[in-house]
Amino acid sequence: MSDFSFWVSAHQSRFEDTLKRLLPQAEVAPQRLHAAMRYSVLEGGKRVRPLLAFAAGELSGAPVERVEIAAAAVELIHAYSLVHDDMPCMDDDVLRRGKPTCHVEYDEATALLVGDALQSLAFQLLSEHRLNEDAAKQLQMVKLLAIASGSRGMAGGQAIDLASVGKQLTLPELEQMHIHKTGALIRASILLGAHCGNLDQTQLDKLDRYGKCIGLAFQVVDDVLDSEADTATLGKTAGKDANNDKPTYVTLLGVQAAKKMAAELHGDALDTLVEFGAAAQRLRELADFIVKRKY
Ligand code: IPE
Ligand code: IPE
Ligand code: MG
Ligand code: MG
Ligand code: MG
Repeated sequence: MSDFSFWVSAHQSRFEDTLKRLLPQAEVAPQRLHAAMRYSVLEGGKRVRPLLAFAAGELSGAPVERVEIAAAAVELIHAYSLVHDDMPCMDDDVLRRGKPTCHVEYDEATALLVGDALQSLAFQLLSEHRLNEDAAKQLQMVKLLAIASGSRGMAGGQAIDLASVGKQLTLPELEQMHIHKTGALIRASILLGAHCGNLDQTQLDKLDRYGKCIGLAFQVVDDVLDSEADTATLGKTAGKDANNDKPTYVTLLGVQAAKKMAAELHGDALDTLVEFGAAAQRLRELADFIVKRKY
């Protein structure tokens, strides 16, 4: 096992325990909602956003116990976005992380409430744990996640996605959609990890640029995988974008140009890390992972 694979598995398994501890137990009332929240968050996710937070946290000298709270907050928002994304009123998907989607396993009203409750829990975590000695900085973190999740971030990107069904977008329009629906949370993951430690503004700006490139690359690769990979490997329904008539990098550019675009963004992301030297090795490896992943 490479040093990077070992780092990934160690963080994933520790983080799984963290999520189990932070989510309400399924025996606590209302049991069905709590069971559905655990069902939707635990097991199966790649945990890319938390891994980015851990890598940025290591770079900034942050204590890991703090970073894992910030990472959990982002992962809860991400899980909520997937639960809602799969609902019949959005992408209408039946498979997620190799299991029936939340509204299929439970019901639509429960899926709606799972999203609501996961979002609230994310902000509860950011406000009830000490994440930075400087209270003003911690408040900044709450604001950062709020903006990344809301109408100027993920939720806004999802609105553009739904409004774009059946339309041919221009490249800049498609980029805006992807930067919001997927890029915003990925950027926030990196900055939240970094804010648990200490970096100066120039360094934070470089990390933000890295996040912007890798966040967009992530969704370009997601589009490519949707068109090229199979359902069993993805753990979600392949070919869904074409079926739902969604504009993607593949429909706009074709699969080869979409891959080239992801490779260019990968290069841009690596360029932003040059001055960090060896300290940014994990972020480089994660950029490779995001662009070369098969699921
Ligand atoms: C899928 O995200 C949804 C997108 C934003 C493209 P991931 O590919 O990170 O999904 P999980 O968390 O590993 O299941
Ligand atoms: C999802 O984009 C983005 C969010 C959930 C915010 P997709 O709709 O492409 O994600 P998948 O392919 O269903 O995971
Ligand atoms: Mg979608
Ligand atoms: Mg979807
Ligand atoms: Mg997709």
